[in-house]
Amino acid sequence: MILIETIEKLKEVLFRIKSNGKTIGLVPTMGALHEGHISLIKKAKSENQVVVLSIFVNPVQFDKPNDLERYPRDLEKDLLLVESFTDIVFAPSVKEIYPTEPTEKYNFDELENIMEGVSRPGHFNGVAIIVKRLFDYVQPNRAYFGEKDFQQLAIIRKLVEQTKDDVTIVACPIVREPNGLAMSSRNQLLSFAKRNIASKVYGIINKSKALGTPNVKKISEFVLTEVKKFELVKLDYFTIINDATLQPVESLEDAKGVVACVAFSVGDVRLIDMIRFK
Ligand code: PAF
Repeated sequence: MILIETIEKLKEVLFRIKSNGKTIGLVPTMGALHEGHISLIKKAKSENQVVVLSIFVNPVQFDKPNDLERYPRDLEKDLLLVESFTDIVFAPSVKEIYPTEPTEKYNFDELENIMEGVSRPGHFNGVAIIVKRLFDYVQPNRAYFGEKDFQQLAIIRKLVEQTKDDVTIVACPIVREPNGLAMSSRNQLLSFAKRNIASKVYGIINKSKALGTPNVKKISEFVLTEVKKFELVKLDYFTIINDATLQPVESLEDAKGVVACVAFSVGDVRLIDMIRFK
């Protein structure tokens, strides 16, 4: 495994690799790696000859300075975790990626006027800026993203459609802790007890699915009522949407490709999750 910190070095190394006709899989991350990231890297490794893992806490996708400041970071630990199955780790500084303030503006229309796009203004523009820049530096054959960030995945697919980058976006399933909580770097900010409370939301949504009713209003009411029983948990949104358009579904009857997305806070830690209904 080699650690690269500059764009120039990255391009130089990748030029040699590509000249040898090798395929490249990119796994973009913000570090604080967990089993979810490992599954992305392993999937990338199984489908490409060379895997590039990027580790960069992207300041322009954070809408709150305090959230950026306390985002978990431990590069040494991350490197130890992945060294046996990753070829290149690209871990640049903020100055390297943004020597000047980025000015790119993306528009994802109805894909961003909902859920995270509403709760975290500017977030997806920031994600698009870094993902597009990474695609430009690496020019991967495939790029790997987790389904937990379901809206982000849709936005990145849209970005590729708009920019016509020749990269295949590969979606990878959520990896969960034994109690059901979706793996997330932000889980590190929670105590063991709070992680357990956070996992209850997944349990509630599974129960709401098991109600077996096609009535989305009833399902949502059930989730709202059940979540309220946990004082520490504050629901931001629970919404049942079409998996392609991300637009709300009114009834599960006859609907195809339906997922439920949820965002909630446990204390001051905000988490998201996604569960497929149909
Ligand atoms: O999902 C993430 O970790 C980030 O949003 C990404 C895609 C690495 C961009 O910073």
